[in-house]
Parts: sequence; structure tokens; C-alpha cells
Amino acid sequence: MTILCVNIDHIATLRQARGGMEPSVLESARIAEKAGACGITVHLREDRRHIHDADVYELRQAVQTKLNLEMAATEEIIKIALKIGPDMVTLVPEKRKELTTEGGLDVVQGRKRLKNTISRFHQKGIPVSLFIAPDLKQVKASAEVGADIIELHTGFFVNASNKKQKNNELNKLRQAAQLAVKVKLGLNAGHGLNYDNVRPVAVIKGMHELNIGHSIISRAVFVGLDKAVKEMIRLIK
Ligand code: PXP
Repeated sequence: MTILCVNIDHIATLRQARGGMEPSVLESARIAEKAGACGITVHLREDRRHIHDADVYELRQAVQTKLNLEMAATEEIIKIALKIGPDMVTLVPEKRKELTTEGGLDVVQGRKRLKNTISRFHQKGIPVSLFIAPDLKQVKASAEVGADIIELHTGFFVNASNKKQKNNELNKLRQAAQLAVKVKLGLNAGHGLNYDNVRPVAVIKGMHELNIGHSIISRAVFVGLDKAVKEMIRLIK
């Protein structure tokens, strides 16, 4: 069964619009968990544009399900992550000017550095997921560097402009998923998933977790977070 981890970065984006305390990141995690989310995901970006260090410390104490910390593999953030000890980390590439994470990690090129970073997390008992494009070479390299899980980047599927291209991208996701299962990598996916496009990704064989943020927080503005999370869970089950 596919499960949902809710990315609550954009609760913090809204808070940062005024720089005060609301809406509360902690409260949003509580509501999402109560609505049935199996995990809470936050991205501690180098520029701290939404989630701040204090949020991650507080979430570490408060989250009852699973805290997944998305992060770039930079020394500063690695040290913070090792100190906080989330239940898992997801390594992503990060560019300061991007609106959101744009591409997947190049595990093939970054093999040596990633292997070293992964082993530092493993020494603390923290599983590592790598956010990668649905590319067989990247899946294979992820297993070789010792990752526990891969998160397939669904942005290419989401942004495909016609039916043929969409099917093509969906097939790439399916093939990458098949290889992940074969080499015994845990299988997650995310990026740009919403209430209209989530279904075909949720039913990919071997799919375990979907990380979804923007669409759920956007829907929550109109129907409330509890309902927005429940509706998404119903779709992906
Ligand atoms: N997975 C990863 C690795 C991401 O970087 C993001 C965006 O923060 C998401 C999932 C969630 O994407 P979205 O907000 O588009 O649902």
C-alpha cells in the first residue's frame, strides 16, 4: 500500500511572509498526522527561506510518525541533521535561485561524496533516501553508493505537455521503480503531485511513500488541512 508523507514547507512559507509565528508549523504537523499522514517532510534549505533550524528541532520532539528531513549534502546541513537525528534524510540537489527543487541528484557523478555522506548517516542509524530522476543509471548508482531508498522525481511526468509524453514519462517511472525493487531499494516518489495526477504514480508496483506538499497546502487554504490530507490519502491508497 502506498502511504503519504506531507511536506509542510509551505506552512513555513506563509509564516515567513509576515515573519511572525503563524501559521504554526508544529500545529500543521499535528493536524496532518491526525488526518492519517504516515510522515512529515521538511526541507531545511541553505537560505532558510521557509523551514528554520528551530522548526526541525521542535518537529523532532513533536512528530509521532516519521520525520523526513530533505536536505542538500552540504557540510553545514549534514552537521545539523546528524545533531537533530531525523527518522530519515532525503538528499536533494539545491540551487539558491530555484523556486523548488528542480532536478534529481547526479549520483553517477557524485558517487564518492555521496557514499561518504551516506555512511556518516548510517553510523547514526539514519536511513538515507536519494532524490533522483527516473533514470536506470541513477537507480543503479544509488544502490551502489549504499542508499536505502530512492525518491523518484515525478516532475518530468507532471510537466509533460501531451498524452504521449506523459505516458513516456510514466513508463520511465515504472521502469526505474522495477529496478529499484530488484536491487532492494525502498521506493518513494514526489514533486508536483496533486489531486489530479497522483493516481498513476501511487499505483506503480512497489511504490511505498509519496511526498506531497504544495497541492495539499494549497487545497488546505480552502477546505482545511485535515480534509486536504484525508482527500489525498483516499486517492493514493
Ligand atoms: N520531494 C522532494 C525531494 C522535494 O524537493 C519536494 C519539494 O520540496 C517534494 C517532494 C514535494 O513537492 P511538492 O511540493 O511539489 O508536492
